[in-house]
Amino acid sequence: MEKKTIAVLTSGGDAPGMNAAIRAVVRTGIMHGAQILGVRRGYNGLLHGDMLELSLRSVSNIIGHGGTALLTARSPEFATPEGVQKAVSICRGFGIDGVVVIGGDGSFKGARALSQAGVPCVGIPGTIDNDIASTDYTIGFDTAMNTAVEMIDRLRDTTESHDRCSVVEVMGRRCGDIALLTGIAVGATAILVPEIPYDFEKDIIQRMQFTQKHGKKHFVILVAEGVGRVGGLAEAIEARTGIETRATVLGHVQRGGSPTLRDRVAGSRMGYRAVELLLEGKGNRVVGMHGDAIVDYDITEALEMKREFREDIYRMALEISI
Ligand code: F6P
Repeated sequence: MEKKTIAVLTSGGDAPGMNAAIRAVVRTGIMHGAQILGVRRGYNGLLHGDMLELSLRSVSNIIGHGGTALLTARSPEFATPEGVQKAVSICRGFGIDGVVVIGGDGSFKGARALSQAGVPCVGIPGTIDNDIASTDYTIGFDTAMNTAVEMIDRLRDTTESHDRCSVVEVMGRRCGDIALLTGIAVGATAILVPEIPYDFEKDIIQRMQFTQKHGKKHFVILVAEGVGRVGGLAEAIEARTGIETRATVLGHVQRGGSPTLRDRVAGSRMGYRAVELLLEGKGNRVVGMHGDAIVDYDITEALEMKREFREDIYRMALEISI
């Protein structure tokens, strides 16, 4: 049988655990007799033929590192039909039979375009936001939340010492999952997410007053990035309650750091399955997790799925955060 060549790239925002997926792709591919090419800087690198052959040892000791060893970028050129055609010619030139794309929704759209143009692709969900409908879990989510919890625990020490209120912004442009679970873990008085509109009086002020009546003297208000800027909210809370209030944006620190066990294992399992699919001749797919199982879908089907926000968990969080 002719030796297959599989390329792997990471695209969009990096996420801890992407390296575990790259490593699994490389090792699985080589152990199954394929040649693996690592593309640097996502679709942008693909358009410039910026790739190198990866060996079993070239991915040694990357599983514990944050970021992506292949680097990442956004590529406006690849988003055009001409860009996709150029990528197809480059893939043909390098003898590439399939591409593993690790990234978010935008990266999956690119993988679909490339698959439709004749280069089979398999997507792996890698983003800290957990905002992909076709999977219960995206690589990087767990590490990002653990980082956020550690930071907010520190913040709580000073917030408590001063009887203050801290309004904390965590990442999540369209998805409140980081805010929701982190909010539970740090005992936030209010959690604001893009999926659920909030009322300033009812959802923040009255909750603060209620908990105050039960003896609470300091408050953490957790806000997902997609809800809006926290500076103005902090000022409004202070003006309305008289409680000294500070705003903190955790920002990109949430995207870095050594991946947790969960992200290393999820990345490894999804990387392994992605290569299996390509070697079975299946492209235009994305892998994901349902519960503990690794699943895969047609990319278009996956992109059309709707994410359900866990309102049951949200309600529970509000009830116990008093
Ligand atoms: O990776 C996802 C994400 O972290 C979002 O939560 C955030 O809105 C965005 O990326 C920021 O991206 P950039 O790297 O362009 O600042």
